[in-house]
Amino acid sequence: MLIAIPDILSKAEVAEFRRIMDAETWEDGRSTSGAQSAEVKQNEQLPPDGATARKLGERVVVALTRNPLLIAAAVPLHIFPPLFNRYGPGKYFGEHVDNCIRGDHLTGLRIRTDLSVTLFLSEPDEYDGGELIVEDYYGQHKVKLPAGHLVLYPATSLHSVTPITRGTRVSSFFWIQSMIKDPLARRLTFDMDNALQTLVERLGRNDPEVRKMTNIYHNLIRYWADV
Ligand code: NI
Repeated sequence: MLIAIPDILSKAEVAEFRRIMDAETWEDGRSTSGAQSAEVKQNEQLPPDGATARKLGERVVVALTRNPLLIAAAVPLHIFPPLFNRYGPGKYFGEHVDNCIRGDHLTGLRIRTDLSVTLFLSEPDEYDGGELIVEDYYGQHKVKLPAGHLVLYPATSLHSVTPITRGTRVSSFFWIQSMIKDPLARRLTFDMDNALQTLVERLGRNDPEVRKMTNIYHNLIRYWADV
């Protein structure tokens, strides 16, 4: 399941991020790749251990944790320190798999990558090509979102970024370990949360049946979550 989440960062925040990133020295994107993906990866990356990537990454994580839709969809246990990449003309990232486990040697954090995330930091009209292609059980999906929006997709999928033919595509990317490992269970709780939000608007939070459904929702999370 792919879930697009709008307005993680405001346009002003995106502009500030871009100004800060433009002043940095970028490195070859293969510095964080596994063996398979390194062979098909052609892009640039902010040095992952550098102060700029860490500071901007922390701001992304704060923005994520204040977003109720993201919390409901991902039920995050751990968020990997966000990385930042850039694709100029001719750059691409061929079809690849993301490592199943990722460790961050600065924080000692080690996560199972349940969800992959791309947070777009360029507007779609700034570049041609550069679509994120995600292949899941339902076929291929093409994603290109406005700056400040993100897409959550299964880290279990094969995915790629098509070659850039004009302009520059800048994004942040990272992984989330969910408290709910099973994607179907995660999907069910997300669907239930969405339906509940609609019922709350219609009937109020203290309608007796809404209250019961809210209790069931929490009990399902309690049943499925590993924390
Ligand atoms: Ni990837």
